[in-house]
Amino acid sequence: MQNNTFSIAVLGAGNIGSAVLARLKELDNKILDIELKKVLVKDQTKNRDLDEGIITTNFEEILNDGSIDLAIEVLGGIEPGKEYIKALLSKGKAVITANKDIIADCGPELIRIAQENNTCLYFEAAVAAGIPVLKPLIESLRGEELTRVLGIINGTSNYILTSMEEGNSYEDALSAAKSLGYAEPDPSNDIDGIDAKFKAMILSLLCFGVSPKNEAVFTEGISKITKEDFEWASRLNKTIKLVAQIDSDKEGFNARVHPVLIDKKHPLASIRGALNAVVAEGDKINQLVFSGPGAGAEPTASSIIGDVLSACHQLSSDQSNWYPLREYKGKIKSFDDVESSMFIRLSVKDQPGVLAKIAGTFGENNVSIESVIQEGRGETAELVIITHDAKEKDLSSSVGTIKALSVVDDIDSIIRVYSD
Ligand SMILES: NC(=O)c1ccc[n+]([C@@H]2O[C@H](COP(=O)([O-])OP(=O)(O)OC[C@H]3O[C@@H](n4cnc5c(N)ncnc54)[C@H](OP(=O)(O)O)[C@@H]3O)[C@@H](O)[C@H]2O)c1
Repeated sequence: MQNNTFSIAVLGAGNIGSAVLARLKELDNKILDIELKKVLVKDQTKNRDLDEGIITTNFEEILNDGSIDLAIEVLGGIEPGKEYIKALLSKGKAVITANKDIIADCGPELIRIAQENNTCLYFEAAVAAGIPVLKPLIESLRGEELTRVLGIINGTSNYILTSMEEGNSYEDALSAAKSLGYAEPDPSNDIDGIDAKFKAMILSLLCFGVSPKNEAVFTEGISKITKEDFEWASRLNKTIKLVAQIDSDKEGFNARVHPVLIDKKHPLASIRGALNAVVAEGDKINQLVFSGPGAGAEPTASSIIGDVLSACHQLSSDQSNWYPLREYKGKIKSFDDVESSMFIRLSVKDQPGVLAKIAGTFGENNVSIESVIQEGRGETAELVIITHDAKEKDLSSSVGTIKALSVVDDIDSIIRVYSD
């Protein structure tokens, strides 16, 4: 490294920003000599453990300070962070962000601006916060053709599902997640799969060169999962996880987020609590598993500090850190054409011919059945059916018809079964 003295600005001094500021202070100046020039906040009157002179509410002071080499964006939300990042990169300043919303929204554009201005853009903390997984995916595995990337990339929903696996109801698990600070007062982004969807969009871009539209990523959350589903999962030697799955095979590319019944032997089955994991698969690499803390100020700050070291090293070379992005040459597969196996639990009338009617409906829709378990409960019976892999559109029309059958009282749950 020719120059190891760098001037830095931090945009945001909240939960993550404060942890980053503390880590910057501790950084060994033999590795990097960092001068913290400015910290951007919204409310200058708040009490902070920072020299008054460096706090500002005026972004222009940072943008127009020619001595600032690098800015760390930890504001949250899309605006004004997105415009700030564009402006900084356009001036040739390196940017590090932890903001998945911005990268999912306009990652390719930001990477292009960084490339055009020979500067750096890093966002390791935007996916699986404390797990350094993006750098291996962008750099170490750039020469590999990946076939599948999947992950547990939302700690809140994984905490809730783990708690339900231990016997708690969804409501109790969610309220424990709130009181431990894992879930926000409005947890919908986490439990509805939206947060995982944004991260899946980033992984799609980095691993496959596809930037799917928000609405093209099928997304289903965990709010319909019940204790009974976990009892069934256990009987089948499986558990239930909210999984983001991105496939690229000869039939095309598809990214989706939904709960899956997954075999207890699969590496993702053992990811418990608020932990995250990302699995990358390819013909030459077989299967790589990255796991660790997917949230929290300290793990997130750790990824950001790693990015600061990489960016400062790269800045000395006056080149962008980005190789050309992968280019996807196949076709995009719509979710309707994705093949899944389904676990369907129904309450049905306990009378002869019911199973035949239901099996017949599946058959008419090109769906074959792998196994059936029927348990009588007096007037009604519980019927659990697992289908073979079939197209989502065929599974969905089977379910629509079965729901309307007079012998079916209710469809209690539908969960996709993960298959390797
Ligand atoms: N929490 C995690 O585990 C985690 C993990 C990975 C990534 N992230 C990402 O990290 C980012 C920061 O999250 P956080 O929890 O630290 O947020 P936060 O606690 O709400 O802090 C936001 C900070 O930005 C400042 N700010 C907000 N809007 C501003 C504006 N318009 N102008 C100037 N300053 C503004 C706030 O100023 P004031 O202090 O004056 O209010 C505050 O200091 C988010 O993008 C989040 O998704 C978080």
